[in-house]
Formats: sequence, C-alpha cells, structure tokens
Amino acid sequence: MEKILVLDFGGQYNQLIARRVREAGVYAEIIPYNRISPSEIKERAYKGVIFTGGPNSVYDEDSPHYSPEILEAGIPLLGICYGCQLIAHMAGGEICSADGISEYGKTEITMKQDSLFEGIPEKSICWMSHTDYVKSPPPGFEITSYTHNCPCASLSDSGRKIYGVQFHPEVTHTESGKKIIGNFVFGICGCKDDWTADDFISSSVKKYSEELAGKKVLCALSGGVDSSVAAVLLHRAIGSNLICVFVDHGLLRKDEGDTVERVMKEKMGLNLIRVNAEERFLGKLRGIISPEEKRKAIGEEFIRVFEDVAEKIGKVDVLVQGTIYPDVIESGNADAAVIKKHHNVGGLPDVIKFDKIVEPLRNLFKDEVREVGRKLGIPEELVSRQPFPGPGLAIRIIGEVTKEKLDILRESDSIFREEIARAGLSGEINQYFTVLTNCRTVGVMGDAGTYGYTLALRAVTTDDFMTADFARIPFDILAQASNRITNEVRSIGRVVYDITAKPPATVEWE
Ligand code: XMP
Repeated sequence: MEKILVLDFGGQYNQLIARRVREAGVYAEIIPYNRISPSEIKERAYKGVIFTGGPNSVYDEDSPHYSPEILEAGIPLLGICYGCQLIAHMAGGEICSADGISEYGKTEITMKQDSLFEGIPEKSICWMSHTDYVKSPPPGFEITSYTHNCPCASLSDSGRKIYGVQFHPEVTHTESGKKIIGNFVFGICGCKDDWTADDFISSSVKKYSEELAGKKVLCALSGGVDSSVAAVLLHRAIGSNLICVFVDHGLLRKDEGDTVERVMKEKMGLNLIRVNAEERFLGKLRGIISPEEKRKAIGEEFIRVFEDVAEKIGKVDVLVQGTIYPDVIESGNADAAVIKKHHNVGGLPDVIKFDKIVEPLRNLFKDEVREVGRKLGIPEELVSRQPFPGPGLAIRIIGEVTKEKLDILRESDSIFREEIARAGLSGEINQYFTVLTNCRTVGVMGDAGTYGYTLALRAVTTDDFMTADFARIPFDILAQASNRITNEVRSIGRVVYDITAKPPATVEWE
C-alpha cells in the first residue's frame, strides 16, 4: 500500500489533512516532526510528505524545525501554512510578519499555471489563517498564486517537486482544496488510489487469521461503533475463537441491549456472552447524587462484573481494544500501544489475564470505522449511532438514579429520537438526547393539577465534541416532541430545550 506522510508541526487541521488524503483513496499517517528523521522517511518509502501548519513563527527561538536534508531526499513535499513558511525558510527564502495583521477567513486567490493547480480556475476562494508569509521565495522557487493581502500565497520548485501553500486546501471553504490534494498525491507523488474499506477488510482478515490462529481472543463489546466493528472484523478472521462479552449495566437506551444482542449474535453470528447486571449497578448507584461518584461507582462495578466473567472464561491469549486513530494521535505517541481509558472498558487489562492486545482499528478515523462497519454488513442503526457515554443514562438523571426514573428517561429519549429521525435531522445533529432534571413543576391536565418532572431536550452540533453549539431545531419539531412526551410519558409535566453552547456548558448535564 502506498503511503503519504503528514509531518505534524502542531497545527489545528492536521487530522483533517490526513483524512482528505485518505478520502482521495491514498493511505496517510500523521507523525510528529520530531519523531521521524529524513532517512527514516526514505526507508519507509513514503510517496510524498505534507508539512502541516502550526502556531509558531519560523524565527521564534523554540519553533519546530526540520532537517533540510529532506529537501534533497527526492521525495515530493507539500508545505501548508507554517509548513510552507518552514520549507521556504529551510530552502533560503525570507519570511515576514505582516505587521501583526492576520489574514483570516475566505479570501479570493489568483492562481497561475502550476502542476499543483492543474485543472483549477484562475480565480477561486481559499481559506487563510496566518500572520507570517513568504516575502521572498528561495532560489529555484516561483510564486504560483497571490491574494489581495498575500503577495506569495503559494510557491513551487517543480524540478524538485517541492510545493508550499499559505492557505489551507484541507478545509472545505477552499473551493479547489480537494483537487489540490488530489493533484499532489496523484499527479505529483504518483500514488494509486488503493486505500478502500474493502482492501482494509481483506488485508486485516488475512493478517489476523494468520496471527491469531488457534488463539483464544476476548473482546469487550459496549454496543458502540468502535468495539462492534472491531469484534465483527476479528470474527471474520478467527470465527468463534473470538469471545465477546457485553455487560448490560441497565443504563442503556430503550431496547438497546436487546438490539446489540440480536444484531451481534443472530445477524453477525458472534460468540457473545451478555451479562445482565442491571440490579448490581442500580444497587451500587443507590443514594449517589454526585456525577463523579456515579462515574466512579459504575467504573468500579464494571470491573467487578468483568472479574466474575473472567473467572468463567479463564486465561485468554489476546485482548481486543477498539482504539481508533484519533486516540493514538491525541496521545502524542503515534507508535506506542494506547489503552483506551473509557468507562465501558476501563481497567480491563488489570482484570483479565492475557498475553497481548490487538487494536484492529488503530489506523482508522471514525468515518472510516463506520464505512468498514457498513461493508462488514453491520446494520446502519449501529454503524451510524451517535456517541453514547460509558456511564450511560446515569449521567442524564440529575440526582439519584432509580429504575423508575430510568424508565421515564428511556421513553422520553426514544420519542425525541423518533421525532428527530422523522424530521430527517439525524444526520445534521451530532448528539441529541433527553435529561431528567429532577425538578418537579406545577401543571394542569384536564381538571386536575399535576406536579411532574421537568425534562430537558439537549441537541448539539460539533466537529470534535471539545466545543459545541446547540442545534437550531425548528420550533414545530420541538413542539411535536414536547407534545408527544407530555402526552405519552407519565410523570413528565414540562419540557424545556437547552440553548447553551459548550463552553460554557458541557454536552452532558453531569
Ligand atoms: P461533555 O459532557 O464532556 O461531553 O461535553 C463530550 C462528549 O463526551 C461524552 N461523555 C462521556 N463519554 N464517558 C464516556 O464514555 C463519560 O464519562 C463521558 N462524559 C461525557 C458525551 O456524551 C459527549 O459525546
């Protein structure tokens, strides 16, 4: 498989660059600039290297630099933003600060004839985000585009196949961004488009059927996308030697435990053990009000339940983790195995005796995991599932968690999800759910007074869940959800919509 290296200088769009290259059908991996030398880049046979953006200025004392040897390595290079300035600086150009004036946002750009801009109109819109720019290009380089504020918006030395763009082709606001990335990886680097979900599945199945032949392998299923896809993929490789354990803590959404069991056991044919532990978890949660104590109690009980299961299963050879690529990159440690510290799989390696961990999805972005899941035949309802926290509904019930409150919350949540789906908004809202606020308010129903719970609807749009905005759901859809919930769910007397962004609020209420 041919590979592009995304050399990471700390910019905010680095994952996006790798995703765009992969969307074009070429495998790309991200490695911090100080973790790989030019000779290693040559040894690993990358077809091209993209220098990412970064927050620094090349003349800052502690700004990240790279060995100029890379310029002579005979490998095509593309620098983006800081990466462009760094390449120009390394090659002997002059960088200049635009007197503290930053160019930010959509900007009209004029491009000249250049192999990077093949098939792109002379004028288009690009996305800029910079203060410094290349004032004089290095010897052998030509300026290939400009904007009103930036006399050198890109440069190239086509003889050595070295290119730099001051703007961000990876951001969708850059109209020709996709084409520019395609021109680099195909036209300039000469890559083939051989990175597809089908190829990934067949090579993984081949690899694991050889590597794990005759081994006893254990996978903890949470019902989430990552662990489901990891399990089905490995099941394809080693069949019933893969034992899946699904701990149902009773804090799942309506019918969720049954759906996971039905799909994974009957449809996908997995060797699955479902542990119904609702009573154990509710017992541990009794009297607990604090969100952090709830999380702690759930995490600890999860381990206790798993200890019991582990005793029955005995020693296993291999433990499967659903780690995905962003977990690996975020750890800042692209080579070492990272054990996911999630509530739903937390602490497992301490409980289970095993020789080795495998992480079949550690090179995939979330979109790619979903695509692999679809190709493996996992139903859309599981593959495109919105994120669901490990502690489940316990952190959506303010105050003490009881069976009665869980049932009220499950019903209301199911109605809200139905209405969002009916309105065709499921794909536009990244996470949406209901919260039982523990606040009772006065109401009327017929001739009688009521004193029911206040239920909050929460729906957010976000790129990464680090920041989020509340979703602008049309009022008539909110009205329909509110009507149905107050009519169909006993004990709910009032419905409110949470209109807070993150920050200052979080997505969950606890
Ligand atoms: P917050 O509430 O922190 O949520 O803005 C951001 C994302 O993280 C999820 N979340 C959790 N996931 N265990 C998890 O596995 C947790 O304890 C937890 N708390 C929040 C939340 O659902 C959202 O997607």
